[in-house]
Amino acid sequence: MSKGARTAAWAAAVIVFCSAASAQDTAEGERQFQRNCGVCHVVSEDGPARAGPNLHGIVGRPAASEDGFPYSAAMSASGLVWDAATLDAYITNSQALVPGANMSVRVRDEAQRAAIIDYLETAGQ
Ligand code: HEC
Repeated sequence: MSKGARTAAWAAAVIVFCSAASAQDTAEGERQFQRNCGVCHVVSEDGPARAGPNLHGIVGRPAASEDGFPYSAAMSASGLVWDAATLDAYITNSQALVPGANMSVRVRDEAQRAAIIDYLETAGQ
């Protein structure tokens, strides 16, 4: 196979893989969110705070900006803005990113984290 043909075949395989993955992601993301986060968080607009704040519209929002939620001093002073990268770091090891915050969560599986973040980006906006 020529180099060009190999590259094209590889690119086609990646495209097929990505579209199959995104069709599954929303359902998988919702499942993983409910399992790992749903005890303490909702994403529905105007849903109640639980132990943690409502995460509706969290992607793009500065940390500790949900009106009326009693954030820790650590979270209030973090200066973070939530995007795919900061969310990934946070749920990989929340205490490493924001030491002393009132949330202690570690999602070790990269695919699970990606599905959860995808869910927050789609369902939560
Ligand atoms: C045991 C309860 C609990 C679980 C489980 C939990 N959280 Fe939290 N979460 C909190 C609390 C409490 C805060 C507020 C932290 C603070 O003020 O220090 C928080 C804060 C957050 C914030 C910052 C919100 C903001 O307005 O700045 C994000 C983002 C977040 N959690 C995402 C998640 C995700 C995603 C999961 C699942 C992987 C998860 N949390 C699991 C309790 C939890």
